[in-house]
Amino acid sequence: MANINVTINGAQLSVNEGVTILEAARESGIDIPTLCYIAELAPTGACRVCVVEVEGPRTLIAACHMPVTQGMVIQTHSPRVLEARRAIVELLLASHCGSCYMCEKANICELRQIAADLDVGLPRFPTSRRYYPMEDVSPYIVRDLTKCILCRRCVMACNEIAKKHVYGIAYRGFASKIIVNFDEAINTEACKDCGICIPYCPTGALRTPEDIHQEKKGTPLVIKG
Ligand code: FES
Repeated sequence: MANINVTINGAQLSVNEGVTILEAARESGIDIPTLCYIAELAPTGACRVCVVEVEGPRTLIAACHMPVTQGMVIQTHSPRVLEARRAIVELLLASHCGSCYMCEKANICELRQIAADLDVGLPRFPTSRRYYPMEDVSPYIVRDLTKCILCRRCVMACNEIAKKHVYGIAYRGFASKIIVNFDEAINTEACKDCGICIPYCPTGALRTPEDIHQEKKGTPLVIKG
């Protein structure tokens, strides 16, 4: 595989052709935050938390699915990038239910962790939340779409690992939603028992019925500072 030269944060690097900006940055020890990205699944570019500045294009670029090109000049932590990342996380929080005190995944929630890392507190934007009834008819999965941030990790895990294609995405804009069949509650007809999607959920939207009754035992949030 040919090597190509890129510049990341002023450092010149030689990386394999075909790697993404995120992979190139991580190979050189640069940490770009991600939310929807999972290395073993195809990137969806859904969350935009990984945006970086590339010399040339006017807009910021999602690092997780953009391959590097010869001579690319990338800034991963410029003021413009940090401002955009914070705004993206603030917008996610503005539509998230915010019931962290009662959430079983509060201490291991990736959204909270990223917000803490980026120093994002209460969103500046008016909050507008989606509320859905808890789906607990399945003996294997409890789904609480009120906590879903539409990262699509469950969709990709179900499609690519379990190869079951249980989930889909429906509606548009603020009404977008991860659906099962024709927007039905998740039940044993739709989903049997693999539960592969549960650990991929970054928030508390997917849990096992046992999780519901457990204390919050996650690793405490570590705020990098
Ligand atoms: S991590 Fe790149 S778009 Fe979500």
